[in-house]
Amino acid sequence: MKVKGIIFDLDGVLCRTDEEHFKAWKALAEHIGVSDFTREDNARQRGVSRMESLEVVLAKSAKSYTDAEKLRLAEYKNDIYKEMLKSMTPADLDPDVMRALDALKKSGIKVAVGSSSKNTPTILSRLGLCGFFDAVADGNDITRSKPDPEVFLLAAKRLTLEPRECLVVEDALSGVEAGHAGGFKVAAVGEAAKLGVADYDMEKLSDLIKLVL
Ligand code: BG6
Ligand code: MG
Repeated sequence: MKVKGIIFDLDGVLCRTDEEHFKAWKALAEHIGVSDFTREDNARQRGVSRMESLEVVLAKSAKSYTDAEKLRLAEYKNDIYKEMLKSMTPADLDPDVMRALDALKKSGIKVAVGSSSKNTPTILSRLGLCGFFDAVADGNDITRSKPDPEVFLLAAKRLTLEPRECLVVEDALSGVEAGHAGGFKVAAVGEAAKLGVADYDMEKLSDLIKLVL
């Protein structure tokens, strides 16, 4: 397929921070006495905002929480998560991801990040990817998280491209749905690639090279 731009989700696509999110939510779950928080629960947190992700944990708790308490719980999780991010370095960048990004950039295809995470700037900087992307849209820029297309539409706008000229790359069902809702073609990796809901299912990110070049 021919595209002018590719918009990458971050967690679970460009890096393995989806695993750190899971561990930090698991720690929060245990902190509030939820002992059966599973990877299936975590799959429903992929792509959605911090506060919506918190609701997935709280749904397993018998207790109800005030808005102020919820904010404190989200902060508790985010502190654990940010502590984990401190040990991230450019060495954590998967060589296959770098191979894909380099090949796309050399070909003149514009690259962007479209993530629900407010930690996006920190992660890009820890991975040494500050300034690498032609555009970044993240959780700090939006009010509606995936499956709403807001973050991808903003990324496309910042690339000065139309959705139909871009491909979205996602690991989450909510992200695939967001891409489609925005009028983008979507390639899936990881969890989402097992669902058969995207336009293209890939085993690894460098599969993009044969898909678009
Ligand atoms: C998404 C993750 O990328 O970012 C979600 O898939 C997460 O699981 C969301 O909840 C928000 O992340 P953060 O870093 O702003 O808490
Ligand atoms: Mg993701």
